Amino acid sequence: MNTNLTVNGRHHALDLDPRVTLLDALRDHLNLTGSKKGCDHGQCGACTVLVNGTRVNACLSLAVMHDGDEITTVEGLSPDGRSPLQQAFVRHDGMQCGYCTPGQLCSATGVLDEIAKGWPSHVSADLEGPFDLTREELAERMSGNICRCSCYPGINKAILSVAEDDTVHREAEE
Ligand code: FES
Ligand code: FES
Repeated sequence: MNTNLTVNGRHHALDLDPRVTLLDALRDHLNLTGSKKGCDHGQCGACTVLVNGTRVNACLSLAVMHDGDEITTVEGLSPDGRSPLQQAFVRHDGMQCGYCTPGQLCSATGVLDEIAKGWPSHVSADLEGPFDLTREELAERMSGNICRCSCYPGINKAILSVAEDDTVHREAEE
């Protein structure tokens, strides 16, 4: 089936078997191997990408369902060097293996955007926000991303540091 995807700002016209997942289309047809196939069952988050800005498990989604969509993979998070979140992951030692880090970065990018937009999570006390990124709130929002070696403390510190910087910048602009 003809499928048009815009991935990291570049348009691709693909002819895909309708059974090909978004993850396999990215990895096998576009050579974007940053998104990893961990479980292939929606359980680990290694394959997380942003679809029109919202995080999605690419292993659970068929590529043909995304005709016309804008996809961002870890390769496209910051085309001009490391994003503030990527820098924070390095600074706080939030990264170890190449398997889970790309999904954690895409997911955390999505989390920061969800917080900025005022989207509640399952544990948010107030559905209208604003939301403090408490330990519980962050754990719930990042619960789809598993790290088998448990570097969650560094990952959490990295996300929190960027969220705090965003708040400081927003308050300074107001
Ligand atoms: S590979 Fe998609 S969630 Fe594990
Ligand atoms: S850093 Fe990959 S499993 Fe923990």
